[in-house]
Amino acid sequence: MTAAGPGANGVALEPLAAEVRSIRTRIHAELSRVVVGLDDVIDQLLIALLAGGHVLLEGVPGVAKTTLSKAFARVLGGHYQRVQFTPDLLPSDVTGTYVLDRKTGDFVLRRGPIFCQVLLADEVNRAPAKTQSALLEAMQETQVTIEGTTLELPRPFLVLATQNPVEQEGVYRLPEAQLDRFLIRATMGYPGHDPEVAMLKLHSQPTVEVDSVLTPERVLSLQGRLPEVHCTESLLHYIVNVAEASRDHADIALGASPRAALSLLRCARARALLEGRGYVTHEDLQRLAPSVLGHRIILRPESEIEGRRVDDAIADLLAQVPVTEIVGAGPRRPGG
Ligand SMILES: Nc1ncnc2c1ncn2[C@@H]1O[C@H](COP(=O)(O)OP(=O)(O)O)[C@@H](O)[C@H]1O
Ligand SMILES: [Mg+2]
Repeated sequence: MTAAGPGANGVALEPLAAEVRSIRTRIHAELSRVVVGLDDVIDQLLIALLAGGHVLLEGVPGVAKTTLSKAFARVLGGHYQRVQFTPDLLPSDVTGTYVLDRKTGDFVLRRGPIFCQVLLADEVNRAPAKTQSALLEAMQETQVTIEGTTLELPRPFLVLATQNPVEQEGVYRLPEAQLDRFLIRATMGYPGHDPEVAMLKLHSQPTVEVDSVLTPERVLSLQGRLPEVHCTESLLHYIVNVAEASRDHADIALGASPRAALSLLRCARARALLEGRGYVTHEDLQRLAPSVLGHRIILRPESEIEGRRVDDAIADLLAQVPVTEIVGAGPRRPGG
């Protein structure tokens, strides 16, 4: 067995990997009916879906965050809800509350919009911290507690939270501990000249609805197979070496947590399946590091003032940590 090739498990997973790859192709085809030039973001959404995590979608207004989230929810075929987060939104507006039934005089539970399979939490950082944390707790636990009663949420449960850049007015920055709850952060930039022209053409045609490609049951069963995707011992060491290097990096105040390392592994397994492979490669890990680790790493204020960015620090880590076989040997830290 080598680091690059499939082990026994990798071979056994070939039919599943081929199926996931074809699901990916069909989903891209459906979504291309409503959005242009967002293939990378769509792949990140698919990775989070298979890995059973949640997505933070960042970008300035007008880059199709809402349009894409809505269409993505549709291709999954699950029960979908959208909540527009506003400065006056209360936790109970998200989770639900007990209301008095005038006829019987009893309090009855009114479930909030969070009781769904795909939740679009739109502009999540416009709501106050209390409401944000109600959502983030539900994401973590897949359950909510309403006045002492704990209720399970439907599964699969996928939150797509959109966030405006923090420089904008009326925006609360999500606390770092809560950012760690998002499996992946997808950044949506401007589309580029030709895709933007293609977008104009698309909007000159009659609007279409996208069809569903998956069902909630199928999503759950695919999620259940994820741990079978093979990852060699040396790649597990590689993940931990990258996480450890982030904790020692001169520009980084808070490095990748063990939860971040685990997230990287889960996402890499999902990416492998989407690429039609039953085994993880170094490339999976390197390609995913910015979107899985980026939002969890905090730079030192001095480094930030000097103009260093998190992406630069991650590029350093990937350049420093060797990708060769590292079996059982202790961590190799840059400069250590
Ligand atoms: N890449 C794109 N492909 C297709 N339509 C786009 C794209 N970018 C923006 N649009 C269109 O621009 C408008 C604004 O999109 P919207 O989803 O509301 O953006 P956001 O939620 O990011 O503010 C919509 O009509 C959307 O269809
Ligand atoms: Mg929007």
